[in-house]
Amino acid sequence: MKITVIGTGYVGLVSGVCFSELGNDVTCVDHIEKKIEMLRNGEVPIYEPGLKELIQKNTEAGRLVFTTDLTEPIQKAEMVILAVGTPSLPNGEANLSYIMAAAKEVAQAINKNNMVIVTKSTVPVGTNEKINNLIMEHTNFTFSIASVPEFLREGSAIKDTLHPDRIIIGTESEIAKRKLTELHRPLTDQIIITDVRSAEMIKYASNAFLATKISFINEIANICEKVGADVTKVAEGMGYDRRIGSSFLKAGIGYGGSCFPKDTQALIQIAGHVDYDFKLLKSVVEVNNDQRFNIIRKLESILGNLQGKTIAIWGLSFKPETDDVRDSPAFDIIHSLLDRHAKVRAYDPIAVKNFRSQLNRNEVHYCSSAEEAALQADALCVLTEWNEFSEIPLLEIQEWLKRPILIDGRNIYTEEELLDTELMYYSVGRPNMN
Ligand code: UGA
Repeated sequence: MKITVIGTGYVGLVSGVCFSELGNDVTCVDHIEKKIEMLRNGEVPIYEPGLKELIQKNTEAGRLVFTTDLTEPIQKAEMVILAVGTPSLPNGEANLSYIMAAAKEVAQAINKNNMVIVTKSTVPVGTNEKINNLIMEHTNFTFSIASVPEFLREGSAIKDTLHPDRIIIGTESEIAKRKLTELHRPLTDQIIITDVRSAEMIKYASNAFLATKISFINEIANICEKVGADVTKVAEGMGYDRRIGSSFLKAGIGYGGSCFPKDTQALIQIAGHVDYDFKLLKSVVEVNNDQRFNIIRKLESILGNLQGKTIAIWGLSFKPETDDVRDSPAFDIIHSLLDRHAKVRAYDPIAVKNFRSQLNRNEVHYCSSAEEAALQADALCVLTEWNEFSEIPLLEIQEWLKRPILIDGRNIYTEEELLDTELMYYSVGRPNMN
């Protein structure tokens, strides 16, 4: 199938690359020349395991092309995938200006009937109808619209795309149903066909539900700390119930990233527009925003005033295996330390550059190793569960620190590992293990 993907962000790039891996002819279009130039040279603008290799393989095979020109690829394609960003507006609503601009450009370039136009960007319910109307205003050719939301996770994007749990195809068009089923059939048998609005809602409802699971287990963790229970055991025990499931029950400092914070806010707004007060989701967001400050509360309860204290931070990305720092809880935590006049020494295996570009202050010393950050610190806080951190022996960490205080925001160490140490260890929702 000849496919043109518009937008080379996470969703567009990974989808385009994976569709080419399946043997389709894919052209990825982006208006940022520098990005296209990089991709043509085999450089990948984002860190995603396996992506570089797949780009190289499929570019060499001639199935994957990158360009800034939109017209020719649209005219050659039978399917166009819109995968441009829908960032949050200040009020939490999704900003649709990029996707609408892309849809208009597509409409103006169409030169034949029966084009299938697919939205993969996360868009509020009703947006595909707006896209449909906009395209109708700018072309006389026939076309069909479909919403095929994306469920990939950063860090495992290739695996998630090539082995999805399900594919949702929201369309009223028979041509779109047939072509999209044909395209996705090699990936899974679990293809669910819905109307457009339900497909749009499935995406938001899925992310909101996962966010709810995280805030729920974080609150359970907070209670566990007070009643002396162990949240990891509680989550394990709950997870064996297939109705509950074991995933997304890891307690920690809360969710971040480019999706959950944005999509939960957008769904609250979507509900608000139809006069529905989504109280549960509002609480999920509130719990999440507060959870990260438990790190500060714990530090203060141990060290007292944080003024002049040196705090080591391990982990700046919002989760491991990515250099993405968007909405990372580390920002709030470090800002809060700076407000208290603490000195911060921060390290991340790959996200330092991205993080520093958004927070560059003298009081934050960015380090090039975990050891450098921890050396002579008054306390160490683990904010991202990189394997690199859990592989460091705790006795070594103890040696590096000025005071043996370890606040583990992701529960990466076990009771056994702590046995021979004198570390004062505080984790999330687990009984005191010191
Ligand atoms: C999320 C969804 O998982 C994807 O299905 C969806 O496609 C994507 O958003 C999107 O809308 O594009 P992603 O943000 O890449 O994917 O990462 P997740 O692995 O879902 O993690 C999100 C956040 O939740 C991270 O900060 C992570 O640390 C946190 N988390 C996750 C927990 O605190 N506990 C858990 O048990 C799981």
